[in-house]
Amino acid sequence: MKKYLGISCGFHDAGVSLVDDNGDILFAGHSERYSKKKHDSELCPEIIDEALEWVDNGDRLFVNYYERPWVKAWRQFRAGQKLGPFNFSDIFGTDIYNTLYERVTKQWGHFMHDGHIPHFVQTHPHHKCHAAASFQTSSFDEATIVIIDAIGENDCATIWKGYYNKKGKAKYKKLWTLKYPNSIGLYYSAMTARLGLRPLDEEYILMGVAAYGEPKYVKDIEDKFGAHTDSLLFKENTHIGIDDSFLEGADEFDIAASAQVYVEKLIKIVMSKARQLNKSDNLVYGGGVALNCSANRFLGQYFENIWIMPNPGDAGNSLGAAALGYGKKLNWKNAFLGTDIVGVYPVVETVKALKEDKIVGIASGRAEFGPRALGTRSLLADPRGSKIKSEVNKIKKRQQFRPFAPMILEELVDEYFEMPTHWNNSPYMQVTAPCKYPKKFPAIVHKDGTSRVQTVPNDGTGIRRLLEAWYKETGCPILLNTSLNVRGEPMVNDRSDADRFEKLYKTRVIS
Ligand SMILES: [Fe+2]
Repeated sequence: MKKYLGISCGFHDAGVSLVDDNGDILFAGHSERYSKKKHDSELCPEIIDEALEWVDNGDRLFVNYYERPWVKAWRQFRAGQKLGPFNFSDIFGTDIYNTLYERVTKQWGHFMHDGHIPHFVQTHPHHKCHAAASFQTSSFDEATIVIIDAIGENDCATIWKGYYNKKGKAKYKKLWTLKYPNSIGLYYSAMTARLGLRPLDEEYILMGVAAYGEPKYVKDIEDKFGAHTDSLLFKENTHIGIDDSFLEGADEFDIAASAQVYVEKLIKIVMSKARQLNKSDNLVYGGGVALNCSANRFLGQYFENIWIMPNPGDAGNSLGAAALGYGKKLNWKNAFLGTDIVGVYPVVETVKALKEDKIVGIASGRAEFGPRALGTRSLLADPRGSKIKSEVNKIKKRQQFRPFAPMILEELVDEYFEMPTHWNNSPYMQVTAPCKYPKKFPAIVHKDGTSRVQTVPNDGTGIRRLLEAWYKETGCPILLNTSLNVRGEPMVNDRSDADRFEKLYKTRVIS
């Protein structure tokens, strides 16, 4: 059988995905969960071994890489940057495929030893991989695709028309591009660094603290960067960072609030452009900036139907590369595509533990593909009452200003949250929505009264059955859901990680 392997590695958040010739996603995972290094940029042997379990003798394997390395190296060279993982000879080398092949197979030593010789190695443009990861996992037959990230090879934002031809082959027509160094993602990362946070990691904290400030400095940011025009061209290259003297002495929460308002302004310009360039009511949105769930509440002003896959950043691009290799619509079911902790999802036991202890870990079934815990590697808690936030924080030790996320039975979401226009659901925590009962659920409500909602559809998954049972027992259709991880580490992957969590925090983790 033909199988399509997608790889993203070498920059940050390495990932591996495997798709078969029926369009089924057999495996998708992040290297960091195996190596325990947050945002691990390289593939590690453990994830390779696990992906290989899905490859049978006689399979023809097509390897798909998520970038065009020599194009990226050329951009880095022109920009005066130090070269990335691919050396200078890659740019001019006559045997570029062999260079990539060597790189892949060096990391895939086990793979070679097992005698699985890749049938073909192919590279794909970075933004096209984002487009494919997003479009081919959506239910749409045609869509406008918007990709906004920090940077691919040269593209920093792109708009595409996506559709399937009569043979079911996915087609992508690029309608617009914003090229390096003009980058909405790099701007946001630079502002993240300006606030003393880690760029390419803590952008979500900037987004979170924005709710605590007043957007007093939007005009200053506009004057400095000047990108809020139809061309979206920046006055300066934010890739090299922002001088600390910019807005020196200003309140950091106010800077964050202003930075968020400005990024929303830029995203709106792109969305408006996308709406004009392609006649479709369907939006498929990807790239790391699509993780800004606060900004996503505006998308319904431009499109009626919205799809953001659970892993729209670069780790998700491994699936985009595999999708391009396969070429057709994927059979998307849910995000549970990683390591399997085998067993029946422990519904009864977990409800009992929640009623007795209020807080319990769960590690059961396949790990989520994406940065957010969606219920198979989660720390769950009863969301009601004023004490639960600090109790969960005794374990999580995260900043008190950050709220936790709620998961709710999808059909009841409108009773508890004011979902933004054209957001009927949010299965992967893609959007924030005002909570109608903030006093009842203070642990899951942010300073601005919103929550990062996860709606759980009636799809028979373990987490759905758990929420149903919890609702039946308590009359509350909501659980607090935060990631199950040892502090400073990526999310728990297997049972031995869960055991370590149990010991360290003296908190039960049920499998
Ligand atoms: Fe990207």
